[in-house]
Amino acid sequence: MWKLHCMIICLMAACLLASSLSVPFTEVANATQRRAVCMDGSLADYYYSAGSGDGAKNWLLFLMGGGCPDSQINPDFYNWNRIFVAYCDQSSFLGDTEFDGQGPKLQFRGSRIFDAVVDDLLAKGMGVGENAILSGISAGGLATILHCDGFRARLPDVGRVKCLSDGGFFFRGENVLNADYREKYFASVITLHNISSLLPVTCTERIDPSLCFFPENLVRDIQTPIFILDSAFDAYQSIQEAFANWSRVLFLKLMFSL
Ligand SMILES: *[C@@H]1O[C@H](CO)[C@@H](O)[C@H](O)[C@H]1NC(C)=O
Ligand SMILES: *[C@@H]1O[C@H](CO)[C@@H](O)[C@H](O)[C@H]1NC(C)=O
Ligand SMILES: *[C@@H]1O[C@H](CO)[C@@H](O)[C@H](O)[C@H]1NC(C)=O
Repeated sequence: MWKLHCMIICLMAACLLASSLSVPFTEVANATQRRAVCMDGSLADYYYSAGSGDGAKNWLLFLMGGGCPDSQINPDFYNWNRIFVAYCDQSSFLGDTEFDGQGPKLQFRGSRIFDAVVDDLLAKGMGVGENAILSGISAGGLATILHCDGFRARLPDVGRVKCLSDGGFFFRGENVLNADYREKYFASVITLHNISSLLPVTCTERIDPSLCFFPENLVRDIQTPIFILDSAFDAYQSIQEAFANWSRVLFLKLMFSL
């Protein structure tokens, strides 16, 4: 698996060298009315590079990540419609509320952003495409798992729809001292961002919604073909999980004092 991961990183580096593609950002249509906004209230946006030739009917939607326009390096996807969606909601494209604490008011509108981007792309012709892939990395990888079947449902006439989640399989797991560290963290995100009613029902009708941000509780119900990619050397999964909370601070102090 690490070879595949390395290959992707090398591909991205090669792409940067091989191209000077500059894609202007597209503001989500009707973003203000639809409240498709980032945490600070600014309008959500994405980068769209139109497909061409036999790629014109194929769509690659990436939740934070990249794409390569070089046919030598990226023969499969170089001429697809490629969309890079900026991540600015902090809850894997799934919240819908606002928070008025002591500081400036915060918007948690992830699900509105995702829905508005999909609507925008339907208006550009994604709904009559031949192939569509939803992919994403890290929080976007988790979003890919959370939205995979919903994405498929929005594209009933597209021949093939598949999902690729990279580095988004955040496991509940156990760590050295605080076995439930991530469980508490995810539960607080779900409450703060008002996510419970937006999670896949196949999970929430079975277990507590606070556990439905964990891919291990979601993947068995996903009907759409999905490929999960997760590096065995993913530092976020291993180090952070193992040394969560105060032990992590101690660990970092030890690291830097060496
Ligand atoms: C939480 O979400 C539900 C449905 O998604 C909505 O009806 C409700 O108004 C939201 N609550 C807050 C406080 O934003
Ligand atoms: C934006 O709003 C206008 C007017 O309500 C509507 O006609 C149009 O379809 C909307 N566009 C998208 C992409 O939702
Ligand atoms: C981290 O440790 C503090 C102090 O021991 C504790 O109060 C807190 O609940 C812990 N947080 C998590 C997420 O485990």
